[in-house]
Order: sequence, then structure tokens, then C-alpha cells
Amino acid sequence: MRAKTIAFINFKGGVGKTATVVNLGATIAKYHGKKVLIVDLDPQCNSSLWLLDPEVWREHVSDLTRSAYQIFDDHIVGTHHFDFEKAVLRGVPYSKDGGFSMLSHLDLLPGSVELLRLEDRLHQNRTAPYFKYLHQTLRPYQNDYDYIFLDCAPNLYSITKNALFAADYCVVPYVPDYLSLSGFGILADEVEKFYESVSGHLQGRKRPKIAALIVSHYRKIGDVFKHAVNELEQMAIALRASDQIHRKTVILEPYIRHDVKVAESTSEHLPVVLHAPSSIGSQDYADLAVNFLNHFENL
Ligand SMILES: Nc1ncnc2c1ncn2[C@@H]1O[C@H](COP(=O)(O)OP(=O)(O)O)[C@@H](O)[C@H]1O
Ligand SMILES: [Mg+2]
Repeated sequence: MRAKTIAFINFKGGVGKTATVVNLGATIAKYHGKKVLIVDLDPQCNSSLWLLDPEVWREHVSDLTRSAYQIFDDHIVGTHHFDFEKAVLRGVPYSKDGGFSMLSHLDLLPGSVELLRLEDRLHQNRTAPYFKYLHQTLRPYQNDYDYIFLDCAPNLYSITKNALFAADYCVVPYVPDYLSLSGFGILADEVEKFYESVSGHLQGRKRPKIAALIVSHYRKIGDVFKHAVNELEQMAIALRASDQIHRKTVILEPYIRHDVKVAESTSEHLPVVLHAPSSIGSQDYADLAVNFLNHFENL
């Protein structure tokens, strides 16, 4: 196998990037036997905190060589301290009693708040191919996974550009409202410009593209959401036709409904599929997982 690496991007926060990475990752690991690695690239470290007890996370990344931060620090400084085997937490989450693995197929490369300090340093070093660092580091492990999910910060700065470059495809989690719609157009444009600028570095790899949208926080309030999804669909059709996004890009169904069990599962440090297996959220992610796999395995 060679992992499909997928960057979950949007320069809006709170649109479900982390929720999708954690819950879709856990669902395809649990129900479909897929081997999944989540890489936490956001200084807010939300996917690490969703899947780990905060004490376990803090202790683990107190040695920064066991976090995603070290990948970038090594490249900037010219050291080789990052050790994938030591850094990756296997079979997350862990049970509260005894700490045994609850999902044998789900691994996590945790983030650190120190990721915040990298942007300036990467910027100072613009002549180096700063956007390649993550790809170069993850490449040897691609054969160990079916999917590598990159949980990005809500921006398109240097670390996110590393995620874009490492990715085979991008997925845009999206909360349907009027303002987000123009945001999506700008995002698609910026992503495509980035890929254009680095196309000489892809070394025979297919140019990555945005290939799916996932709607989160869906609520049936009046027609606001329905209208917004229709407009998103129209925009996707136009962007597909002009090759700005992958020609098979879809808005994956079902739309993930707002469910308090999903919100609650964050403080339990469990994906919703383990916290509340029969909840609406769990059901939506289970249905989404089927369509997600179908889509990405046939692209
Ligand atoms: N389907 C859902 N139902 C209820 N709350 C959700 C749902 N999805 C995400 N959330 C909550 O919304 C917040 C923002 O989602 P998150 O995935 O962290 O966004 P992002 O990573 O894009 O910033 C999280 O705190 C999470 O608890
Ligand atoms: Mg997030």
C-alpha cells in the first residue's frame, strides 16, 4: 500500500477540520480496517488534545523531538533529532484505566504549541525549499498507512504549505453560509497558485488538487443552509470546469449535522464513534466514511 495523504484545509477556523480528521480517521480505522496516521500541524493542537489526555500529551511533547515541530526545526537548523518511531503515538486513543490502545489502526503524530515559533524562522529562510520538509520526512512511512490525514491551522502560511506539498489531495471542511462561499473561491485560487509555483518540484508526482468538500455543523434552520450548499455546488461546478479544483470534486454526503455528542466527545478525549456510537454524529461520520473511501479509492 501507499498512503493517500490528505490535507484538511480552510483558512477559516471552527469549520470542522479537526472534527473531520479525528472522527473520519477513527471511523475508517474502526469500521474499515484502514491504517491511519493523523499529523497535527496546528499550534492549537486540537487533534492531539481530542485524542489524548492533556497530561499524556504534555508529557510526550515536553520532549519536542517527539512532536511535529521537530520536523521543521531539524530542517531549519540542519539537525536530525526527529525520530518518527519515538514521536508517533500508536493506537490512539488510550483507555482511562490502564492506558491500553482503543483503536489499533489509528496513530497520531502530535503537535506542539512551539509550532507557532516556526513561521518567522521558515520565512527568514525563503531561499531553501521550505515547503518540502514535511513531505521529505513522511515519505519513508507512506507504505505503513492507507491514509495520512494532515490537520492544518486555519491559515495558508508556511506550515500549511508544507501540508499542501505533502498532500496527494486536499479536502475543504466547510460550514455553509454566505461569507464562507467567497472564502472558498479565494482558497481554491490560492491553493492552485501555490501548486503552480511549486510544480517544478513535484518530481513526477501528480499535481495535488482540492478533491472534496465536507459540510459540517449542518442545521435545517429555514433555507439558509440549503441555499448556501446549493451555491457551493454551483461554485464547485465552475471551479471544476476551469480545472481550479479536481475534475471529480464532490461535496461528500451526508452533511455532518450539529450534534452535541460530537462537541462532548472532545472533553472525553474520544472520537464520537467511541464516545457515543449510536449518536447522530457517529452515524453521520459512519455514512460519510463509506462515501469518502469510495470517492478517494476511485479518483
Ligand atoms: N458535528 C458537530 N456537532 C457539534 N459540534 C461540533 C461538530 N463538529 C465540530 N464541533 C465542534 O466545533 C468546534 C470547531 O470544530 P473544529 O473541528 O475544531 O474546527 P477547526 O478545526 O476547523 O477549527 C469544536 O470545538 C468541536 O467541538
Ligand atoms: Mg482545528
